Amino acid sequence: MTAGESCTHRGGESAAARETAPHAVVTGASSGIGRAVTERLLGAGWRVTALSRRPVEPAGTALHWVEADLADLDAIPAAVAGVTRADAVVHAAGLQRSARLGALSTADGTAMWRVHVAATEVLVGTLIDRVPDGGRVVLVGSRTMTGVPGKSQYAATKAALAALARSWAAELVTRRVTVNVVAPGPTDTPMLQDPARATTPPRVPPMGRLIDPAEVAGTVAFLLGPDARSITGQTLVVCAGASLG
Ligand SMILES: NC(=O)c1ccc[n+]([C@@H]2O[C@H](COP(=O)([O-])OP(=O)(O)OC[C@H]3O[C@@H](n4cnc5c(N)ncnc54)[C@H](OP(=O)(O)O)[C@@H]3O)[C@@H](O)[C@H]2O)c1
Repeated sequence: MTAGESCTHRGGESAAARETAPHAVVTGASSGIGRAVTERLLGAGWRVTALSRRPVEPAGTALHWVEADLADLDAIPAAVAGVTRADAVVHAAGLQRSARLGALSTADGTAMWRVHVAATEVLVGTLIDRVPDGGRVVLVGSRTMTGVPGKSQYAATKAALAALARSWAAELVTRRVTVNVVAPGPTDTPMLQDPARATTPPRVPPMGRLIDPAEVAGTVAFLLGPDARSITGQTLVVCAGASLG
């Protein structure tokens, strides 16, 4: 399939329930945190349009997968052309490339900037007029956003997300659309095993365990729920103590 083509998986819920269910656009839904967010939302009765290069497996409810390479910025509007209303946009897609100063790769830095930052601008910018008043935007950042040895380029792209979120939150505040960042610490996903970040192996947080992707998904779900309607422009760090000290 090419960008914009899609397949739909529907479960047992009624057509009426599907039409009234809130709808989220989730990137990175094929793996790790994005997959956990997708499963969490589907389980809570949301419809999800999932963007990724690899297919997103059917979860038994209203899931619509669109194949999309988010590094191809020009293809993003077509990928979401079928979305008429997005009650929430969750950008979880990402990659990590690691190197220390003196050995930085411009190509790696550009690749991370495209998927983390530029794709966010195009995706949210394309959809914002389809986000109703009171809608939600959540960007998955990283607790490394304040700077970590060996991850400067990655950290810089994640710091940029906080700047985008805070700026957009101010622009959208009268529409009651909230924009926030969830910044995880080391989370137990395939990203931790990626050979491309081998120079910075994950360190177990002070709590003595990696973070479960479901915990991050729970935080995202909270930000999409009614109790978080007054939280905007903020970064919530979920790090099991990794950012302390
Ligand atoms: N795991 C951690 O410890 C940790 C900590 C802090 C922050 N994060 C952040 O959390 C987010 C999710 O990471 P993860 O740990 O869940 O990693 P993961 O399991 O490796 O999943 C990465 C996701 O990003 C998608 N993606 C990457 N490049 C893409 C592209 N060019 N186009 C479309 N989709 C793309 C992948 O989809 P396809 O390959 O199918 O396209 C996949 O669904 C990332 O933004 C990451 O920076 C992770």
